[in-house]
Amino acid sequence: MTRHVIAPVDELPPGTRKFLDIDGRPIAIFNIKGEFFGLLNRCPHQGAALCEGPLIGLAQSSNPGEIEYTKLGEIIRCPWHGWEFDIRTGQSYCDPKRFRARAYPVNVEPGSAVVKGPYVAETIAVSVESDYVVVDL
Ligand code: FES
Repeated sequence: MTRHVIAPVDELPPGTRKFLDIDGRPIAIFNIKGEFFGLLNRCPHQGAALCEGPLIGLAQSSNPGEIEYTKLGEIIRCPWHGWEFDIRTGQSYCDPKRFRARAYPVNVEPGSAVVKGPYVAETIAVSVESDYVVVDL
């Protein structure tokens, strides 16, 4: 696995997503309520840019007439045919046994852990202070 530094945490506030191409793979990184998740930006159904779809919640029903809406902002709906996937796991809610979006682990690490250093420019010391979003592929 290779570690890829995506961005400073400040550049990806909750509710946002960032699209990248990492080693030829289209990836999207999501900040869901302060937690970071990565998904391959390719729908396992017919290959749409899955991560460009809307973020929605999950409607579930245990009894007729009772609908519970959970996981608000944690489900992505494919823009082509509307299949829905859990951003945390890649699980499909249309056909969970056959289809799963490829999910990638994403971590937040301090700058001191992702930058080799310390760097020194002539007599000026350089330090890294903010945290960074890092994905392992
Ligand atoms: S390509 Fe995504 S649901 Fe069909």
